[in-house]
Amino acid sequence: MTESRDVILQLRDLKTYFALRQGVFQRVTGFVKAVDGINLDIYRGEVLGLVGESGCGKTTLGKSILQLIRPTAGEITYHGADGTDGAVDMCCLSDAEMVAYRKKLQIVFQDPHSSLNPAFTIFGSLQDPLKKYGVKSKKERRKIIGDLLEAVNLQRDYMDRYPHEFSGGQRQRIGIARALSVEPELIVCDEAVSALDVSIQAQVLQLLMDLKKKRNLTYIFITHDLSVTEYICDRIAVMYLGRIVELAHTEDLYEHRLHPYTQALLSSIPVADLDRKTKRIVLEGDVPSPINPPSGCPFHPRCRFAKDICSTEVPALRKVVTGGKEHHVSCHLVDDTVTAA
Ligand SMILES: Nc1ncnc2c1ncn2[C@@H]1O[C@H](COP(=O)(O)OP(=O)(O)OP(=O)(O)O)[C@@H](O)[C@H]1O
Ligand SMILES: [Mg+2]
Repeated sequence: MTESRDVILQLRDLKTYFALRQGVFQRVTGFVKAVDGINLDIYRGEVLGLVGESGCGKTTLGKSILQLIRPTAGEITYHGADGTDGAVDMCCLSDAEMVAYRKKLQIVFQDPHSSLNPAFTIFGSLQDPLKKYGVKSKKERRKIIGDLLEAVNLQRDYMDRYPHEFSGGQRQRIGIARALSVEPELIVCDEAVSALDVSIQAQVLQLLMDLKKKRNLTYIFITHDLSVTEYICDRIAVMYLGRIVELAHTEDLYEHRLHPYTQALLSSIPVADLDRKTKRIVLEGDVPSPINPPSGCPFHPRCRFAKDICSTEVPALRKVVTGGKEHHVSCHLVDDTVTAA
């Protein structure tokens, strides 16, 4: 069963390694394998959640997609809207060639303090991308920025204020307005609401969802907070040590958690509903180092069900069907209980 939807990005065997250097001559002594062989199709108009413990490579994957960090190997093919722009492997583009594609792909970071320059007014910070993409008249730039601020439910005249004059939630809205200023098709939201308190979080999430509908956006939503992903994501990819270990439609993932790592992650969500599968699975130990990942399945040293094969053979990300939909999992122990595709 293959899904025939409009793909915006195709990741093929994507790897991003950071070189470890030591000594006077800064010799390379090893690599941090932050992203280690990711295959993923991202569909136009979807919200794809990216979850996993700290250090599993979520931010590195997000930055690699935007080419803010150049991947070590693999392909990221961008498909233009309606096929008009053709398909291009962004990993092969020079920095100059990448400029046109950066406009289509934007990122919103967790920390709204660090993403706005304290010395500039909001107009000063937001006008740079507009200038870069050819809006020459200052009057026109002021109009666009005023419209953007209104789009994120802020007042137009806030553009003449400085970042310290805003609350965290307002600054995050300004960060979203800046990402929108170049009319992107896809936005990577990297822990975009994690620093906000719960009521403000809900407002900013609602804003993101409204903007998605109005502007036909695609989101990659990176988060630690699995109670948020359940409500806003169409699909969820679970990452462990630089790889995707499970990928499924949201309801399917919550209903049929196949990978032992996903089972542990989802069991840690605090829930009020006692009918749900609330038995908490506590993971032993920390995430192993991505410098020397364990052999075979990278999760096997922490897995409750590990067998001999798990320490010797790397499990492939296999397609199975749960609830009538595609579900991908990389685990030797998932077999006859689910319908093979
Ligand atoms: N510039 C860098 N140089 C060397 N190692 C790096 C660099 N950036 C990230 N790493 C390493 O790559 C791995 C993945 O980091 P990354 O920030 O992508 O994780 P993450 O899943 O986003 O974590 P968190 O949830 O804490 O934000 C970590 O082991 C980290 O130490
Ligand atoms: Mg991160």
